[in-house]
Amino acid sequence: MKNYHGSFPLTRLRRLRKSNGIRSLVRESRVSPSDLIQGVILREEGDPAAIPAMRGVERLTVTEAADLAERAVKAGLGGLALFPYTSASDRDAAGSRAFDHENLMGRAARAIKQQAPEAVIIGDVALDPYTDHGHDGLMGEDGTILNDQTVEALCRQAVTLAQTGFDVVAPSDMMDGRVGAIRQALDRAGFEDVAILSYAVKYASAFYGPYRDAVGSRGALKGDKRTYQMDPGNAEEGLREAALDVGEGADMLMVKPGLAYLDMVTRVKDQWGLPTVAFQVSGEYAMLRAASEAGAFDFDAALMEALLCFKRAGADAIITYAAEHAAKLLTD
Ligand code: PBG
Repeated sequence: MKNYHGSFPLTRLRRLRKSNGIRSLVRESRVSPSDLIQGVILREEGDPAAIPAMRGVERLTVTEAADLAERAVKAGLGGLALFPYTSASDRDAAGSRAFDHENLMGRAARAIKQQAPEAVIIGDVALDPYTDHGHDGLMGEDGTILNDQTVEALCRQAVTLAQTGFDVVAPSDMMDGRVGAIRQALDRAGFEDVAILSYAVKYASAFYGPYRDAVGSRGALKGDKRTYQMDPGNAEEGLREAALDVGEGADMLMVKPGLAYLDMVTRVKDQWGLPTVAFQVSGEYAMLRAASEAGAFDFDAALMEALLCFKRAGADAIITYAAEHAAKLLTD
């Protein structure tokens, strides 16, 4: 705590709030386009674009994603985080399509790198878009999600993503030991320069609801993810998760969801000082939309306030489905 000698009436904090200019002068945190990572849900031509709970966000074809990447570079966005919408025919018990260079992620990565080579693209590592049961890992006969076998599959998936052009792989699966294993697998395959953004502190959250619709997992998912994602009541455990991932070679750390977990953003940033990313997840976007459509508040104002609060809490970057929109608001 700093030592404040001032007291009223000598000190009047309202002096620095009296005009736009002075408020801007003393603002401690700011959002700029380079802080924002656009969340992108990919789709095949012919699959539906609309995501009912997330009005204003559409699934994008490979061509549309490449166009968006080009606009994102021009707008100075930090990057794009890609996720695939898959149908039942892309799913099996082994999540085999995760290792296919011609899957939606692979085709999108190549198209983006061709059209917008400077775009930073982040690929989600987890099997849930590809498993018939909708879990992030492989399932044993008794229904448990198998840790070590899943880690092997994740390594293959991460190498596949690297081979198709992803700059950053982002394991979102919450298996133990996967960051170190993925680092080794990438290095052995010659991808020493592909970075790992670890979903280090990821909670089992109701706020992922719209995402599961968005990627086609909702109908598929059997049970819940609480045997591998964290309990929302736990903070100390989140720091242990982060510590392990730092030790295993994570380049950047993520906290997810965002707004309800800002305490963890602050703690993780304070403790490790690594680039720290917060994810404004699908349910957060959906809440902002629904509340603004109900007349509760202005969408743009609430969005920009939430993004600023992520920065104040210590986030270096924010994944949001409204990145391009927010960047426009910042530059207009
Ligand atoms: C899956 C994954 C999820 C999200 C990103 N990767 C959902 C989940 O864990 O079930 C959530 C994204 C969002 O809600 O916007 N590994």
